Amino acid sequence: MTVNNVRTFVDLRSDTVTQPTPAMRDAMFKAQVGDDVYGEDPTVIELEALASRITGKESALFVASGTMGNVAATMVHTRRGDELVCGIKSHIYRNEQGAMASICGVQARTIDEETNGTLDINKIESVIQGSDYHHAITRVVAIENTHNMCGGIPLSMDYVSSLGYIVQKHGLKLHIDGARIFNASVALNVPVIDILSPADSVSICLSKGLGSPVGSVLCGNSQFIDMARRARKVLGGGLRQSGILAAAGIISLTEMIDRLSIDHQNARLLSDGFSRIPGIYLHHKSPATNMVYVGLKSNVPFTGVELRDKLKAEGILTDLVSEDSFRFVTHYGIDKDMIEKTIQVFSNALAD
Ligand SMILES: Cc1ncc(COP(=O)(O)O)c(C=O)c1O
Repeated sequence: MTVNNVRTFVDLRSDTVTQPTPAMRDAMFKAQVGDDVYGEDPTVIELEALASRITGKESALFVASGTMGNVAATMVHTRRGDELVCGIKSHIYRNEQGAMASICGVQARTIDEETNGTLDINKIESVIQGSDYHHAITRVVAIENTHNMCGGIPLSMDYVSSLGYIVQKHGLKLHIDGARIFNASVALNVPVIDILSPADSVSICLSKGLGSPVGSVLCGNSQFIDMARRARKVLGGGLRQSGILAAAGIISLTEMIDRLSIDHQNARLLSDGFSRIPGIYLHHKSPATNMVYVGLKSNVPFTGVELRDKLKAEGILTDLVSEDSFRFVTHYGIDKDMIEKTIQVFSNALAD
């Protein structure tokens, strides 16, 4: 398809490709702003108050990105030489350039995720250390909800509360990378405030399925957020008239959450269609949220790169996550017709 001579793609690489909605652009245009480093931006203050209410945390801080939220949280919860327990496939470990080590001076103690995206609580308990002078002190457990690399799986309420109990018992902090926590909330039909109640801190992303062009919000108690504000500054995140961006974030939190169920339905449609295509297999039976991971069977005469390029030539963009596996992510720029087209194009590409 072409619009104004520019080719448009069915872009399923990520929910980060979403464009701001007309309501966001309007709100950004009209936003009242001030210097947020002086604490004078009314729109940022409004967004932070809203995020704090929704997450049930005492305080909140608008940050430039999910990565900045996770790094700032780690800086506050730890001291140099400490240890943070996390999943080996987690974003905080794999996809943040080792910031936990290079910026925070903290080492990761990784645990393999279970197939449902959780970290086995017994395994967590077995790696906690602190009393022996030889050891780094464990300070934080970080989990991801939904878990991106584990298929966008929402972690159950029971799991998060059991983990919260254990983390507290050992005097540690629980950080949730909630880049897609609203997808978890919609899929589980549980308010975000309940899912997050065991967490000491959470970073929520506005710029993924919720459609904002920029931004995340880090939430926790007031003391934590005061320290996170310092951390944000040294990370280069002390923005000035950032109400322009926060205005879109307010629309994300007020208008874009409930519709995530449409993305989840579309992901299920896509997954159903893929399940009927010979030559590929689904990593997970049926997606609970907005991600579909598929792999190529060994008898397919194409490499992942070749297939990705074939799809692109037909107007479909997908994320090649390994040599022979793809991730398709639904979002509000994707409708049912696009899903059907994607299934058809994938099927044709394998038949060629
Ligand atoms: C689970 C998860 N956490 C954190 C991030 C980082 O977000 P950002 O790209 O805004 O830094 C991402 C990005 O895709 C993510 O998937």
